[in-house]
Amino acid sequence: MTPPSGMNDQPIALEAADKGNRAAILELELLPEQQEFVASNAESLAEARHDDEAIARAIVAAGRVVGFLMYSAPEDDDEAIIYRLMIDRREQGKGLGRAAVAKALEEIAQLSRIHRVSICYEPENEAARRLYAGFGFVEQGLDEDDEMIAVLELGG
Ligand SMILES: CC(C)(COP(=O)(O)OP(=O)(O)OC[C@H]1O[C@@H](n2cnc3c(N)ncnc32)[C@H](O)[C@@H]1OP(=O)(O)O)[C@@H](O)C(=O)NCCC(=O)NCCS
Repeated sequence: MTPPSGMNDQPIALEAADKGNRAAILELELLPEQQEFVASNAESLAEARHDDEAIARAIVAAGRVVGFLMYSAPEDDDEAIIYRLMIDRREQGKGLGRAAVAKALEEIAQLSRIHRVSICYEPENEAARRLYAGFGFVEQGLDEDDEMIAVLELGG
């Protein structure tokens, strides 16, 4: 997946969330007003332990864990869902969220069965809306929990 031009400046890696980076993931923080936008990383890691389809990733920049994301790409489906993304409050605004989404889309695009990626966010989450719109995600409307669903069709 090609990110919007000139927007992949931040070298980041996605690493499997495991015992080695668990403490660093749990130390990541959001701004108070962002906390309602995404489940805590403690909840997400607990959820991932019990869900074989959850793919949990530490977002690593310059050797440090700066964020966390989680997605699923079920074996029997052609759609992947990115359902958690956060960048530590001290690291926001540096292009890391965009770089992490680009990397996640690259990783997902390797799975040839996957033809579309969906995401959801609170309708008032302007940062998420703009971030995802930049990749071409198209808003579909609110789901039953009043969260905005947006979908990106993968090319090819
Ligand atoms: C959303 C989030 C992951 C963005 O991460 P980030 O590293 O700060 O974002 P980037 O620096 O890569 O910015 C990429 C684009 O996102 C959008 N964006 C990021 N922060 C924004 C803000 N405060 N207001 C408006 N748009 C914003 C912009 O379009 C920006 O591109 P631009 O700088 O060219 O305008 C981060 O703000 C975050 O963790 N928020 C709390 C959790 C959350 O809302 N997660 C998403 C829903 S699950």
